[in-house]
Amino acid sequence: MIIAIDGPAGAGKGTLAQNLVSKYGFRYLDTGALFRAVALCLIKDEYLTKDNLELKAIFYAKNLDFDFTRDFKITLEGIDVTNIIRNPETGAMASKIATIPQVRVNLDEFQKNFAKKYRAKGVILDGRDMGTFIAPDAPVKVFLDCAPEVRAKRRVEQLEGMGQQANYQEILDGIIKRDTTDRTRDVRPMVPAIDSIKINTCENSIDDVVIIVSNYIDSILDKKKETL
Ligand code: DC
Repeated sequence: MIIAIDGPAGAGKGTLAQNLVSKYGFRYLDTGALFRAVALCLIKDEYLTKDNLELKAIFYAKNLDFDFTRDFKITLEGIDVTNIIRNPETGAMASKIATIPQVRVNLDEFQKNFAKKYRAKGVILDGRDMGTFIAPDAPVKVFLDCAPEVRAKRRVEQLEGMGQQANYQEILDGIIKRDTTDRTRDVRPMVPAIDSIKINTCENSIDDVVIIVSNYIDSILDKKKETL
């Protein structure tokens, strides 16, 4: 079974996915991490210029060796980059290069192969175009959304909880900018699939969201059992 979870940054896709992984033992693919890994290579590339950014992004998306472990880690060329790709600079660069059609095409193969490899036992795909493009036939599609102000406030609390300083306005501006790029780009913009369950994570607690989605998954698993 494929479970496609889409929605903007900070809407709770990863938290929902981790809960579902604990409950069902499914595999998990954080596709944003792929875009972030390409972004990281670009940021670290000392020969990067405005003129060659697009070509280099396409090259990295085609040639890098990514992998995802069972414990939510991403490796790039065998090196664990799970934490280093999480900063706002990498997120902004990821959003920028995600607008380049050939970058997306070059990352499709890994995503589709991962889905194919693990679909029999269950796989969760987390991103922006999972339900609309990567797995349009997924029996469970979820679109999470929440007001940017609430997402920014949660992010500030999360950073402060880790002992880091956080500026609410800067974080909010970054979220709004990234949302705009992700929702309005020409190539595969972030939109809910028509047949997705749409959940507002400002109004529902994570426990409620897990219950809603689990009930849906269980109904599909029950139907499968009936047809056996
Ligand atoms: O989910 P995230 O914040 O880690 O994603 C980083 C950026 O990558 C996001 O702003 C847009 C892009 N992205 C995308 O275009 N398509 C995906 N399937 C996943 C991420």
